[in-house]
Amino acid sequence: MRLSDSLPWTKTPLIINAPMGGIAQADLAIAVSKAGGLGQIGVDDNLEGLKTQLAQVEKELGRHNGLLPIGVGFLSFIVDSSKAVEIVEKFKPAVVWVFAANALDDYAGWAEKVRKASPSSQVWIQVGNVEAAVRVAKEARPDVLCVQGADAGGHGFEKGAGIISLLPEVEDALAEEGHDIALVAAGGIADGRAGAAALNLGAQGVVLGTRFLSAPETNVHPRYRAAVLAAKDGGQSTIRAKLFDELRGPNRWPVAYDGRSIRMKSFEEHKAGVHIDEIRKRHTEAIKGEDAGFGVDGRTAMWAGSGVGLVRKEQPAAEIVEEFRRGIFDAMHTARTRL
Ligand SMILES: Cc1cc2nc3c(=O)[nH]c(=O)nc-3n(C[C@H](O)[C@H](O)[C@H](O)COP(=O)(O)O)c2cc1C
Repeated sequence: MRLSDSLPWTKTPLIINAPMGGIAQADLAIAVSKAGGLGQIGVDDNLEGLKTQLAQVEKELGRHNGLLPIGVGFLSFIVDSSKAVEIVEKFKPAVVWVFAANALDDYAGWAEKVRKASPSSQVWIQVGNVEAAVRVAKEARPDVLCVQGADAGGHGFEKGAGIISLLPEVEDALAEEGHDIALVAAGGIADGRAGAAALNLGAQGVVLGTRFLSAPETNVHPRYRAAVLAAKDGGQSTIRAKLFDELRGPNRWPVAYDGRSIRMKSFEEHKAGVHIDEIRKRHTEAIKGEDAGFGVDGRTAMWAGSGVGLVRKEQPAAEIVEEFRRGIFDAMHTARTRL
């Protein structure tokens, strides 16, 4: 069965917005699901806020076969799984996405609790290497593995590869172990050409984070969005580093993770050898300003993937979903003419 058939309001090719904590909220999830994609809400540590967001989704979209037609993404190292599944039990999102466990073993416990709370909800887990994909497939048996490549914006495995090699290797490794789990791809997918490539690699859907930062439904500061739209040449304008998680104090993220942000002053000063205490002090001052420290001449992290150079204009989420679907068909067609 095609993955989009198990999410009956969606159209193929399946376009999914990444559950970006605090950034992908109800407005974005509603717009994406209404346009035939899988809209998702990303949770940081604000579970009370999540309830309000989910009530808004229920009011605007209703339920499909008892499920809210969206996904909810939890960061498992921050959120208490028992509290999270209480919300899952009440609202029953069609997809529960889990990412960033302190240890790979933690995912099995999450999957079990989610399934008990809402047996019809699908469990999706995002991983960034072959070993993790195989372990998680075996222990947690998710419905979907989201294979996240190193080009991704935001957090991911510090040691990673791009999806062009990662996704097919994951597919082969899972087949070798006898697992039949749907895969979706994330990381640097910013237009239909990349989406078509991801489907060719074995993905049943594509996850977009950075591309949706251009949508007005996404909750980002205007200067952050402006920096995304202005950035070109993502291999130079963005960078992966642990520094971005150290700006507000000691890094809370599991040790295997770092994050990709647009380069800004804090990073340049770190590279120039400025001590972390001084960088933190300057950051603390900067975020008090009206611009909240955003901008390439600012000091606040601006998570974005290496596909940022392809994100050029502000665009409503529904338009992104529709343009992306068309772009994938067009790119597939063009590729065929080259054979
Ligand atoms: C601003 C931003 C915030 C993110 N926050 C989360 C998050 O809270 N939870 C999560 O599972 N993934 C998060 N991610 C990672 C995405 O799940 C996804 O892997 C990534 O956006 C895909 O790469 P792309 O940004 O190049 O499209 C975030 C990504 C971005 C860009």
